[in-house]
Amino acid sequence: MAKLRDVLQAGAWVGRANSLSPSHVRWPAIDAAVEATSQADGATQKGRHADAVVADKFAPSPVRPVVDSQINAVRLVKQRRSCLSLDGITSITAETFYRMLDRLLPRTGVPPWDVWPWVPHLHCGIFVHRVRGLPSGLYLFERSPTVHERLRSALRADFPWKRPEGCPEYLPLFALVEGDFREQARMVSCHQEIAGDGAFSLGMIAEFSESIRATGAWWYRRLFWESGLLGQVLYLEAEAAGVRGTGIGCYFDDAFHNLLSMGGDRFQSLYHFTVGGPVDDPRLMTLSAYSHLDSARFETI
Ligand SMILES: Cc1cc2nc3c(=O)[nH]c(=O)nc-3n(C[C@H](O)[C@H](O)[C@H](O)COP(=O)(O)O)c2cc1C
Repeated sequence: MAKLRDVLQAGAWVGRANSLSPSHVRWPAIDAAVEATSQADGATQKGRHADAVVADKFAPSPVRPVVDSQINAVRLVKQRRSCLSLDGITSITAETFYRMLDRLLPRTGVPPWDVWPWVPHLHCGIFVHRVRGLPSGLYLFERSPTVHERLRSALRADFPWKRPEGCPEYLPLFALVEGDFREQARMVSCHQEIAGDGAFSLGMIAEFSESIRATGAWWYRRLFWESGLLGQVLYLEAEAAGVRGTGIGCYFDDAFHNLLSMGGDRFQSLYHFTVGGPVDDPRLMTLSAYSHLDSARFETI
């Protein structure tokens, strides 16, 4: 650090610093992607699956029926925040972990999946760090009953695909490698510590090129919608379990693919997520939602 300071102090300032623009900055690559993936009328009907309720095929009922929960959904929605830092200590039980995975499976009458008319095309490569009763390691969670052979042939051939001891039979979770993956998890998430300091983090693996070719370019967006939906379920499930989550949009997809020896573009990582014990930052202030519209409050400032 001192060395860097010395170099900077001895340096000469050249050029003109560019201040942040107050106006809209154009990103032509994003505009091009938006245009290329626009839907033709009625295109969303394509790829719909009449029988999209996948979890009902896996299990007749969730691990713990949703109606039994005493947790107030409105409170969870309001309190949910992204964690900025995780403590590197807090663990969750295997039962809690399985319950969270269970909620990622679409089910009749269970939001938000009851409004999602397509079969899942996203699966999870999971770094388990601190789950009591489950060895640390790299796991694969499949969200559709038809993907197993295709995924298996796309990933490293010597993965054992071991079923974890004690995992509910209907949950399609497989251990690929046991071991400490904290460093690799951080690395693939742009070296962000939150990916290694939690109970687990994951990369969402999309059934990519074939599904886009079969359905049309707009399907690319649909894959991201599904990743967002998965992220929102994880945010709320983390709160319900007394821990906290953060969506991770900064990740090295190729590094994650390499870890799984996943070549080509049949499967691609689209979004990452981490869950663990949060560390609050006292410098941040939390106001209630829409407090800026509360005129009474502003008159007193
Ligand atoms: C798509 C997406 C990607 C994100 N990527 C990151 C990330 O790479 N690293 C991080 O620390 N937070 C990430 N976040 C969390 C955001 O910083 C956070 O959602 C934002 O600050 C708003 O805070 P809130 O979620 O508490 O409302 C991401 C959130 C979303 C929705």
